[in-house]
Amino acid sequence: YLQEFEVSQEYKDLISTLPMEKGWLASHLHQYQGFWHITRQLQGVLSCQKHFNALNSDILIVTNPKSGTTWLKAWIFALLNRKKYPKMFQNHPLLTKNPHFLVPFLELDFYKDKDLVPELSTIPSPRLFSTHLPYVSLSKSVLDTDCKIVYLCRNPKDTFISLWHFTNKLKMEGTCANSLEDSFEKFCNGVSLCGPFWDHVLGYWKKSLEEPKKIMFMRYEEMKKSPSFVLKQVARFVGCPFSKEEEDEGVVDDILKLCSFKNLSNLEVNKKGKLSSGEEHSAFFRCGKVGDSKNYLTTEMIEKLDAITEKKLAQHGLRF
Ligand code: A3P
Repeated sequence: YLQEFEVSQEYKDLISTLPMEKGWLASHLHQYQGFWHITRQLQGVLSCQKHFNALNSDILIVTNPKSGTTWLKAWIFALLNRKKYPKMFQNHPLLTKNPHFLVPFLELDFYKDKDLVPELSTIPSPRLFSTHLPYVSLSKSVLDTDCKIVYLCRNPKDTFISLWHFTNKLKMEGTCANSLEDSFEKFCNGVSLCGPFWDHVLGYWKKSLEEPKKIMFMRYEEMKKSPSFVLKQVARFVGCPFSKEEEDEGVVDDILKLCSFKNLSNLEVNKKGKLSSGEEHSAFFRCGKVGDSKNYLTTEMIEKLDAITEKKLAQHGLRF
């Protein structure tokens, strides 16, 4: 899973000074600006912070890992490109490419290797990027420009179970799976990919209240419950609302159908392919249900996670 990667002097100077914990995969986790990143990812975090120049017209999908990133990438990609590919079920890029290929991550794809600055200025606007970066680690330009942030999160119990399955699927053959109990302890202690989960959500929640035109705060559960309502909300937020004609022609429903779990997970590309970083596309499609965590967590675990969530988020008006 972990590939060789090149690092900058800044990275080398920094990494030995950071708190470190055993990770969920082969790599360790390093705590930078209060959040945990795997060794490989930390270089991307630093380069992205330093070099990414946001434009006013940019759209940034930000998620807590395992919150439905793949689904939201597909939604917004289809939304922005609906005029270009009107025959959605014939020649749409989502039929032959994984959403992570179409909407790459800043820190994991564009900025992943040392201090190389990728040429992003030639991408036609609006440019669509994604990131798992916590609010405090965003490049200054993201905050200084009018670029829009669509933030997606999911209830912590399902997020945890999804992450547990995902990391066990990525573990190299011949290595032991992570036990549910060990992973649970780590997650509760905040030691998870871009964790603590609660701090990640809170950073964006607070800003979304202060600047609702800049940050749209979304939940996976709402995407599941009222998909067409939420998709239309996103379309308005990113500045390309559906016209009455489009709604009458069924464009909203077509996008939802194209991006549905059933459709995407059954495509050849998502059953067989791999990302350049090594993860199998199929690992991003497990069951896509709300509440699946209750099939795995004990009553004590549920109580413990609920109590942490209540303690950390309720005072800010946020509940799951
Ligand atoms: P589960 O493991 O609970 O099934 P991410 O994309 O952020 O890595 O999140 C992955 C989670 O989103 C997985 O959850 C996955 O099944 C679910 N998912 C992926 N594509 C989806 C889709 N089109 N609709 C609904 N859920 C989807």
